[in-house]
Amino acid sequence: MTSRKYIIENNIFGDGVMNIINRIPTGVPGLDELIENGLPKKRSFLVSGATGSGKTIFSMQFLYQGAYLYGEPGIYVTLDERPELIREDMLKFGWNIKRMEDEKKVVLFDATVSRLGIDSGETTAYSENTFDYKKLLLEIIRAVKETNAKRIVIDSIATLGIYFDGSDHIREAILEMIYVFSKLGLTALLVSELESSTNKYSKYGVEEYVADGVFVLKYLDTGIQGINRTLLIRKMRATKHSSEIHPMEITDNGIVVKNIDDYNL
Ligand SMILES: Nc1ncnc2c1ncn2[C@@H]1O[C@H](COP(=O)(O)OP(=O)(O)OP(=O)(O)O)[C@@H](O)[C@H]1O
Ligand SMILES: [Mg+2]
Repeated sequence: MTSRKYIIENNIFGDGVMNIINRIPTGVPGLDELIENGLPKKRSFLVSGATGSGKTIFSMQFLYQGAYLYGEPGIYVTLDERPELIREDMLKFGWNIKRMEDEKKVVLFDATVSRLGIDSGETTAYSENTFDYKKLLLEIIRAVKETNAKRIVIDSIATLGIYFDGSDHIREAILEMIYVFSKLGLTALLVSELESSTNKYSKYGVEEYVADGVFVLKYLDTGIQGINRTLLIRKMRATKHSSEIHPMEITDNGIVVKNIDDYNL
């Protein structure tokens, strides 16, 4: 029986159709079963964690497997790491991003701040000399329409935020972005930063409230072989999700989410 809450939530953008929530697979083994078989479609989720916790690998896996396994083209907007390094790193997991780009199934959109005003040689790159968020959003929209993308990653929102003056403007920009992505039919992962000194799951303390869900990735010094990374679903609107801390492994094929019972401790 579909609850009234689900129906109402699914019509948040007023498409007028009474549907149950549509979900898309994450592409991360072990994760979908913890969130009612996938992410609610056309919504935005925060991937939060400290440096080295696996945010980029997790997000690229969502994008790459979305295109490779499920036929959903995707756009990866990188603000921190240079595209050529991402291609190189991800090849280790057997993810040939270059080939997917050639087949127009993945776009690696270069918005790295280090190259502002310098030609990066990338075919899809933010082209202005000074950063303009609105123009960046327009260029992303163009790329989405050209590829018929269904998935998008912004890596990272924390870096995007440095261009805004105060948390109100950041909140406004993130809300706008989330709204535009949803209107375009995109399911989005927004990479964030975990502020370990506070209880915040995001750098500016607003992202976690406007996103529809929050994944928290952690690197722990447990001393137990195989269990030094965890994933927690801190929030997932419209979803009965696991509230446990799950061990997470970075294998030769990418990220795998496990249950603590999988280990003989
Ligand atoms: N091929 C691999 N096999 C196993 N673990 C790996 C492999 N490649 C990277 N890692 C682990 O993943 C970490 C990097 O993951 P990732 O780049 O996704 O982190 P991140 O959270 O995006 O970090 P940052 O905030 O600095 O961007 C490395 O520090 C390493 O521990
Ligand atoms: Mg990263």
